[in-house]
Amino acid sequence: MDYKKYIAERLTVEGVSEEEIYCSISLPPNSEMGDYALPCFKFSKVLRKSPVMIAEGLKSSYKTDDVIKEVSAVNGYLNFKVNKVGLASAVLNEILDGKEKFGASEEGKGKTVCIDYSSVNIAKPFHIGHLSTTVIGGALYKLFKFLGYNVVGINHLGDYGTQFGKLICAYKHWGDKDEVEKGGIHAINELYVRFNSEADEKMEKEAREYFRLIESGDKEANEIFEWFKALTLKYVQGIYEKLGVTFDSYAGERFFIDKMQPVIDELRAKNLLKESEGAQIVDLEAYGMPPCLILRSDGASLYATRDLAAAYYRKNTYDFDKCLYVVAYQQNLHFKQLFKVLELMGNEWAKDMVHVAYGMVSLEDGAMSTRKGKVVWLEDVINKCVEKACAIVEEKNPGLENKREIAEKVGVGAVIFGALYNNKIKDIVFSYDKVLSFDGETSVYVQYTCARANSVLSKAEEEISIPEGYEPAAQEFEVIKQLASFPAILKEAADKYEPCYIARFAVDLAQKFNKFYIDCKILSAEGDAKNFRLALTKAVLQALKNALTILGIGIPEKM
Ligand code: ARG
Repeated sequence: MDYKKYIAERLTVEGVSEEEIYCSISLPPNSEMGDYALPCFKFSKVLRKSPVMIAEGLKSSYKTDDVIKEVSAVNGYLNFKVNKVGLASAVLNEILDGKEKFGASEEGKGKTVCIDYSSVNIAKPFHIGHLSTTVIGGALYKLFKFLGYNVVGINHLGDYGTQFGKLICAYKHWGDKDEVEKGGIHAINELYVRFNSEADEKMEKEAREYFRLIESGDKEANEIFEWFKALTLKYVQGIYEKLGVTFDSYAGERFFIDKMQPVIDELRAKNLLKESEGAQIVDLEAYGMPPCLILRSDGASLYATRDLAAAYYRKNTYDFDKCLYVVAYQQNLHFKQLFKVLELMGNEWAKDMVHVAYGMVSLEDGAMSTRKGKVVWLEDVINKCVEKACAIVEEKNPGLENKREIAEKVGVGAVIFGALYNNKIKDIVFSYDKVLSFDGETSVYVQYTCARANSVLSKAEEEISIPEGYEPAAQEFEVIKQLASFPAILKEAADKYEPCYIARFAVDLAQKFNKFYIDCKILSAEGDAKNFRLALTKAVLQALKNALTILGIGIPEKM
């Protein structure tokens, strides 16, 4: 049950929507004052009254009941005290009945969200720079599904461009079939790097010719290209499996080459296309942006042209309610231009396109992404994290069974959580020690808390039943309130496209549970207290599992 909603539904503030009231209600850090609080200074401007007066007014009109027992107005805050017994039993029942469905909803029923994420480039390294798009997109994918949406995960492959002519040329000169087959993406990438450092004018010319051959449907050139593509996809799919992400479509840039003409025709028909130095552009000066290049002077299409065609295709194919692009903020301008052009073309749905931008990831030693040949492959980061996790597990608990499996979950989880824990727009410096710390704000800490809860539950002999009328102590009630907030957190995370809210929820819940665990006996308690605490432990474990699962993180039974 969403208590914030319960309160918001029962409050009327003139000129303020229920949604706004809902979002303003917070959990005060000190629950002496109240369990939920509504700061009223935000409404001062609309109501032209002081926050103190507003709070007083709201207090006198609010009718308390069996759910909200007490309302007080203090210093411009409206504080609510809930019926602790009622809330505790409602929350525990909801979780233990709902199990893996706890937090799920039907709000997305009948709505479709397209999520463009990870979008790998064929034959190029899959590096640390692709971490955020992959795990943020993957988490949003699972989150929207959990909220009942129909979700289409799209990997908009970077599979078009003159670089493929260069690659084929390099392969023809220096390549070896078996070596490439064996070395996969690494071998292909080496060929590409070598071309860029060694190719002379003659090879450059050949490369252009190979590109033209791919374009014109030449059998051999296309076979080589398809082979490179297959090797790249096979490679990234191994990583996707580890990270637990999936896609429903791999329609990449090449897929849209024969779908651009109608869009170009429409641009022309709507008088949006202008010639500039031989190229075709859409002038966006009136909107404070440089022009959007549609066709180069040689008639070749651009990244934006293919994205325009892709947007139409997605609308026509999936009839989305939202179309998200999980792409680094470096492409802010590209998406602003793209959305503006779609709007100028008269598409009312242009407002449903969202660029979910995120910041850069760098490693502690300063290494980043593609400085010539010096690339940090994402696979290496994952492997290193798993190796380190192995050593930690070995040191902490050498007697454990399935240590390797546990270390996989811990190591991979740490990589995911490391990229998800902060607001997505922030640049992050990835530190192995930090993400693998047992007592930081980490997935390891959350996983360890799950193992602790599991261990308590496995030692309990009785069937777990929720006692009636049990009045929770302060530490217990903190956990209850945190649990109760989960559905609202999920909704907020979806509204703002911020998986980090879920990650923070998990850390907060783990911290509150651990405080309860240290302060209150569980297994040696008796009667209702014991029952309640066991039920609470079970509920915490379930909520943590649900949260981590949405983020794509596995939960070891033991650690
Ligand atoms: N492959 C592109 C890159 O690595 C990202 C593609 C994002 N999606 C899109 N529809 N433009 O930069």
